[in-house]
Amino acid sequence: MTTNDNISKAAEIISKAKKIVAFTGAGISAESGIPPFRGENGIWNKYDPDSLDIDYYYRHTKESWKVIKEIFFDFFNNNEIKPNPGHYVLAEWEKEGKLKCVITQNIDDLHRIAGNKVVHEFHGNSSRFVCKQCDAVYPLKEIKITEEPALCPRCGHLLKPDFIFFGEGIPQDAYQNSVEAANDCDVFIIIGTSGQVSPANMIPGIAKRKGAIIIEINRDRSLYTDYITDIFLQGKAGEILPKLKIRNQGSNHTPSNY
Ligand code: APR
Repeated sequence: MTTNDNISKAAEIISKAKKIVAFTGAGISAESGIPPFRGENGIWNKYDPDSLDIDYYYRHTKESWKVIKEIFFDFFNNNEIKPNPGHYVLAEWEKEGKLKCVITQNIDDLHRIAGNKVVHEFHGNSSRFVCKQCDAVYPLKEIKITEEPALCPRCGHLLKPDFIFFGEGIPQDAYQNSVEAANDCDVFIIIGTSGQVSPANMIPGIAKRKGAIIIEINRDRSLYTDYITDIFLQGKAGEILPKLKIRNQGSNHTPSNY
């Protein structure tokens, strides 16, 4: 469990920070009810990640779509998924001008729904579909999700959810913006990610090499913890992030509890 003086130390650093960047993974959405991919009750313990390989999607579309529909679309349809206190703290920090951006590996749109405006979606977003043939983009609400993979209303080709499959390139703008943000921040907060997927897992190292203080919040130790993390806060993001909010300067400086 994380010690209180670690929390106070991190809260102090954050209260003085001018340019915070948050780097999030599936763990920040766990308390919104979305299972992470790895570790205890991870999605990849139940499904084969190869179903989300881009070549497999185009060669074995029906089999791939069945898994994608179950993991991402049925799950969201059958559960009321909304941001948790961890998401809302990041949105508040952005409003206060402390947080420059969120770089997220998540495709659940919860940072934007919680109120963050500058969100770099490293792995795209499941609330859109794209046609790789005619480049049309459709919001999820315009696409009927059925057992059959969806076809482009404009050109009839197979549509693809607008999140990044294994073997697919990272969106150029998200990649570029993330590298620039990591190169220009004073505090870099890694939240709820195992650090196992590249090239996303290179971004925190950029911030470290530029001298940013690395704060990590994770239920378990990750590939970052013993390698670049300066302050490791072990526990649930939805519980720890609210404790890192310090009332404005001049208060008694104890982290406020939500
Ligand atoms: N609070 C904080 N951390 C948590 C919580 C929680 N409530 N619950 C789980 N975690 C931690 C886990 O211990 C793990 O270290 O979050 C991390 C989630 O790791 P992964 O499941 O590997 O998710 P992530 O790192 O985001 O995966 C990266 O892999 O499958 C691909 O494209 C997918 O974006 C995803 C990428």
